[in-house]
Amino acid sequence: MTQRIALTRYLVEQQRVHGRIPPELRLLLEVVARACKSISQAVNKGELGGVLGTAQTENVQGEMQKQLDIIANDVLIEANEWGGHLAAMASEEMDGIYPVPNRYPQGEYLLLFDPLDGSSNIDVNVSIGTIFSVLKKPEHPPGQNHGVSEQDFLQPGRDQVAAGYCVYGPQTTLVLTVGNGVDLFTLDREQGSFMLTREQLQIPPDTQEFAINMSNMRHWDAPVKRYVDECLAGLGGPRGKDFNMRWVASMVADVHRILSRGGVFLYPWDKRDPGKPGKLRLMYEANPMGWLVEQAGGAASNARQRILDIQPNQLHERVSVILGSRNEVDRITSYHTGL
Ligand code: AHG
Ligand code: MN
Ligand code: MN
Repeated sequence: MTQRIALTRYLVEQQRVHGRIPPELRLLLEVVARACKSISQAVNKGELGGVLGTAQTENVQGEMQKQLDIIANDVLIEANEWGGHLAAMASEEMDGIYPVPNRYPQGEYLLLFDPLDGSSNIDVNVSIGTIFSVLKKPEHPPGQNHGVSEQDFLQPGRDQVAAGYCVYGPQTTLVLTVGNGVDLFTLDREQGSFMLTREQLQIPPDTQEFAINMSNMRHWDAPVKRYVDECLAGLGGPRGKDFNMRWVASMVADVHRILSRGGVFLYPWDKRDPGKPGKLRLMYEANPMGWLVEQAGGAASNARQRILDIQPNQLHERVSVILGSRNEVDRITSYHTGL
């Protein structure tokens, strides 16, 4: 029987054998994985752990927080603040950035996360997850101590040095990229370790499966309506094939399915709130997922341009998201741009 490789060994080899990551980034990824294990434990306990239900607070985006949103956020902060690998963190659930407290050593990385993705699924026992993105703190001229500011985080997604997510579903799986493809780890609860179970995930360029919240159809822009209408027309329509539809309402679970068997995911801009570029967040959701999808051979677009090329203007910026099988993403983008 071939021996499985644990995440710890995988990361050591990424550092030592392949020279793909420096030691501080290895430590950072180990710590994030440990935090995800701990969140997974809390998710698993459910009602027994008293973690379900709504907290009496709103986040900066005006959404009611669930208890687990806050618990997951606290777990990630506490796990990461003392190790010396980070300068600061930013989260969907916090108003501003969280610089590492002065009592701890400061590192050179920035960690961004959506601590609990798919909050509406927490209380109904459907897959949820954690999404994370790692950036390098920009270098300031020597001798000038700038500390760390929100501005340091406003880097396009193509500058990420690591990204991943963890799905808390029937299994707990961690999916990771450091810019050399996408690998998948499954949590072995007896051992308490994430084990490498699939390497170099590849998204097929074509698909017959799409994911969108159809209840918003009346608010969609014409190119989105055209795309979905053509899928629904099936074998006798312009696409000449039948399509299947899935919508978990947890981006982690929808993206995980796409990384496993292909498909296209859309959360486009719509007319419900025309001033908002979209629902999903560029820094905590679209960038890490966009990079993972690209690293697996897929594409990620905001309907007009590559997501990873967007220059962010603010931490909590929202964006229209279309990602997955490359030919479908290109088709939807071309319906918008006319090219
Ligand atoms: P979050 O729980 O972090 O706020 O994110 C939820 C997101 C995403 O996971 C999912 O794809 C989408 O919201 C679902 O939105 P609808 O309920 O509008 O379908
Ligand atoms: Mn989310
Ligand atoms: Mn969230």
